[in-house]
Amino acid sequence: MTTNPLFFRKTAIALTGLFLCLFLIVHLSANCILLLPKELAIPAYNSYSTLLRESPLIKIVAYLLYAAILLHVFYALLVTLRNRKAKPVRYAVNHAGENSSWASRNMGVLGTLILIFIVIHLANFWARIKLGLGEAVPSDPNGNLDVYSVTYELFQNAWFVAFYALMAIPLAWHLHHGLKSGFKTLGFYHQGGLRIIARISLIYAWIMGLGFGIIPIVVFFK
Ligand code: HEM
Repeated sequence: MTTNPLFFRKTAIALTGLFLCLFLIVHLSANCILLLPKELAIPAYNSYSTLLRESPLIKIVAYLLYAAILLHVFYALLVTLRNRKAKPVRYAVNHAGENSSWASRNMGVLGTLILIFIVIHLANFWARIKLGLGEAVPSDPNGNLDVYSVTYELFQNAWFVAFYALMAIPLAWHLHHGLKSGFKTLGFYHQGGLRIIARISLIYAWIMGLGFGIIPIVVFFK
């Protein structure tokens, strides 16, 4: 067993990152309801949202999710700052582009953009729906909070549509590199396995990027 703090931090980033990747699969699948015709989407989206708020098991998973986001950001910051300290001199000729991808060298920048997105996103939805802050959320004819209408109204604003659609690009980039390196950190070194993981990461990142990017645009034109 190694007690190297860098190994511990990178493992924590990988495990929390993989958990967040699983959350995004569930979150995107649920948000695909928004692509259905209104009469189907409204009851389905609102009862899904009620289940999220009322199921005790999902509440526990939600707390794990918040903890995973905070730990992922915290350890990523520690590792980035440590790497900066270890390499204070920026060499004039370091051929970085030949040795690593742009995404791998800029995970901190991409991660920061995603963090800004998440803060704004939680203010848009979570603060209003879960914390009851801001304008009260109306109820639908089934007595569920009308989360569909909150989403629909937000995506009638072209600025928010552009913001959500554009932020899907750094998200996909971050996920593509993050998933690959997360698996490597957890010990997947075998050449054949790495090729499969690289392909899965690419497909996953495209699905997440396109899915989260397209939904606001489709809702805007609904
Ligand atoms: C089309 C884009 C998206 C839509 C329409 C959307 C919609 C929502 C809604 C309605 C909620 C509140 C759920 C509820 O309590 O009923 C929510 C929560 C949340 N979203 Fe999104 N979301 C989108 C993209 C994203 C992305 C890209 C991320 C992460 C990078 C994200 C992360 C979260 C998180 C962390 C929560 C809090 C979850 C919880 O408390 O259970 N969302 N989203």
